[in-house]
Amino acid sequence: MKKSILITGGAGFIGSHVVKLFVEKYPNYQIVNLDALTYAGNLENLREIEGASNYKFVKADIQDSKSLEKIFNTYQISDVIHLAAESHVDRSITDPLAFVMTNVIGTVNLLNVAKAAWKENYHDHLFYHVSTDEVYGSLHDDSYFLETTAYDPQSPYSASKASSDHFVRAYANTYKMRTVVSNCSNNYGPNHFPEKLIPLCINNIKNNKPLPIYGKGENVRDWLYVKDHARAIDTVFHKGKAGETYNIGGFNEWKNIDIVRLLCKKMDEKLGREPGTSEQLITFVKDRAGHDLRYAIDATKIQKELGWEPSLQFEEGIEITIDWYLANEEWLKNVTTGAYQDYYEQHYTS
Ligand code: NAD
Ligand code: DAU
Repeated sequence: MKKSILITGGAGFIGSHVVKLFVEKYPNYQIVNLDALTYAGNLENLREIEGASNYKFVKADIQDSKSLEKIFNTYQISDVIHLAAESHVDRSITDPLAFVMTNVIGTVNLLNVAKAAWKENYHDHLFYHVSTDEVYGSLHDDSYFLETTAYDPQSPYSASKASSDHFVRAYANTYKMRTVVSNCSNNYGPNHFPEKLIPLCINNIKNNKPLPIYGKGENVRDWLYVKDHARAIDTVFHKGKAGETYNIGGFNEWKNIDIVRLLCKKMDEKLGREPGTSEQLITFVKDRAGHDLRYAIDATKIQKELGWEPSLQFEEGIEITIDWYLANEEWLKNVTTGAYQDYYEQHYTS
């Protein structure tokens, strides 16, 4: 059977890299990108492949089961790679319910529609759920998150992702659906929405604006280049064992303050500023409520069992990322002014 893969959230940061990888690498697959085009969804991310014959875009909300049924029917969806989500922790603190609606209700909707469309004959079908390391909680020692680490989500965002992970596994256990879950660490790279730490700082350094560091900047994240995450998703989709969970990480831990200092140093060089100029923009601000101290993924399982590992060193990845933002001023301007949202309003509301 020819694969017709529904990728949800394919206009977002990670989703757009996954869609591009699959459309280019697998000309025999039909790739259907479903995205609601919230503030985080941007079709400009997909310009390189928008005319490809094996690619379709559908604007739809995963909370809307009627639309999902129609999409499964029209495109005879064989597999799902589910990335659509509300993804920003700070937004989850101000509006938790939006995260429940999309991340929990939306995921259960999608599971239900897939279950009905595949008529409980799951042999040729896979439901792949893309999740986060944040479900494991906050580390206060030098240990790592394993696939067996107990869930301990601390923010409304991670609680909603944890809930969706539980539902996916419950559908595997109860209905024998073929599912797989991966939990990844912090991604960085091109097309990252500038509300998140790295693109926000690149944008602010460029525009000589303050760099807000929450608390003392001591919190630690494990950073992975986004295209390496997309490669990992390809690997798990094709080689992963149904029913399993795979942790994905960069083996690359950084304190926030050190990342921001590195960005300042590199941007000074690239913008021809005196060394130390951009560091003066660093501003310590009130800490994020319930701020998780450290995330650290042990990615040994995917490395040993499926043969995936990161391809880029962080120094190389961050250079590529800064260069991309400096070369794509228009993209940055559009997403920061909301011009692209106005465009969608005109095109997709009829
Ligand atoms: P993002 O916010 O950049 O993109 C999310 C996409 O989902 C957007 O295109 C948005 O329009 C779409 N979307 C939101 N609500 C929707 C709805 N109700 N129906 C349909 N589409 C909807 O997010 P991202 O950073 O690319 O993350 C993608 C996935 O990967 C998420 O599930 C996230 O939890 C997970 N993840 C992200 C990271 C990271 O560092 N960014 C790390 C690990 C896991
Ligand atoms: O770990 C995976 C997760 O990484 C994903 O599941 C989330 O979708 C993704 O948004 C990301 O979550 P974080 O909260 O770690 O990412 P963020 O870029 O928002 O923040 C990174 C760190 O930087 C965190 O410790 C908070 C801090 N921070 C963030 C911002 C936006 C600041 O100090 N200042 C800021 O302005």
